[in-house]
Amino acid sequence: MAMIIGLGSHKGGVGKTTFSRAIALVGAAQNLSVHIADLDQEQQSAFEWSQRRIASGRKPDISVDVYSCPEQALQRADEFDLIVLDGPARAKAMALEIAQASDLFIQPTKGVIDDMAPAVRMFHELVKHGIPKKKMVFALHGVLAAKEIEDGLEYLGGAGYEVLKGAMYMQRGYGDAQNFGLTALETKWDTLNADAARVVAQVIRRLRTLVEDEAVGNDVHSNIQARAS
Ligand SMILES: Nc1ncnc2c1ncn2[C@@H]1O[C@H](COP(=O)(O)OP(=O)(O)OP(=O)(O)O)[C@@H](O)[C@H]1O
Ligand SMILES: [Mg+2]
Repeated sequence: MAMIIGLGSHKGGVGKTTFSRAIALVGAAQNLSVHIADLDQEQQSAFEWSQRRIASGRKPDISVDVYSCPEQALQRADEFDLIVLDGPARAKAMALEIAQASDLFIQPTKGVIDDMAPAVRMFHELVKHGIPKKKMVFALHGVLAAKEIEDGLEYLGGAGYEVLKGAMYMQRGYGDAQNFGLTALETKWDTLNADAARVVAQVIRRLRTLVEDEAVGNDVHSNIQARAS
């Protein structure tokens, strides 16, 4: 049964697909069989990128398919260890569906208030719809300065949410790499790769902890029930 990471935002172009590809690579490097579910039927950016990756001959292969909704992707949960649900641009309703389907839900955002205010409102809405806060995390992304990371931690953390440490800066090297089917950890620049690796490693670690806690919780629960009956 696959672990599920979802990425969503109400704003477009915040870095969901960049993160999805990077998460898939780190998952594969940890020997997980990974799949990206591209939920953007219009743009299909993740899927088209995977075609460029195949053409480049870069290993590992990262499998990507296009789906109309998270539920359709989850039907393949038995085939993989990790499925990354890459949410579409500006699809408000789907963010909730993705969050409901996910063990961990990530929202990338810049560290400026114009972007963070709507991002926080979206998480508040998810909470209202019953998504537990511990499943949600902000990833500062495309920042321009260390101060933006500081501001982001203060603002988003102050709103009551977890924020990944560090961030990928706005750097042409990330776009360049992705032009050739590579990920944010495979750019020409060690510093860029290291920033990306640091952020994405936290995602996988957090996911594993959440899934393990859930499994232990379920075991404890069924043990108690069995003893009571
Ligand atoms: N850290 C970065 N530095 C520079 N360019 C970046 C960075 N992250 C992403 N980009 C570029 O910004 C654009 C948007 O990124 P991406 O596609 O990952 O966002 P998205 O949230 O998936 O967008 P959409 O909402 O359209 O699906 C892409 O052209 C991507 O190559
Ligand atoms: Mg995208």
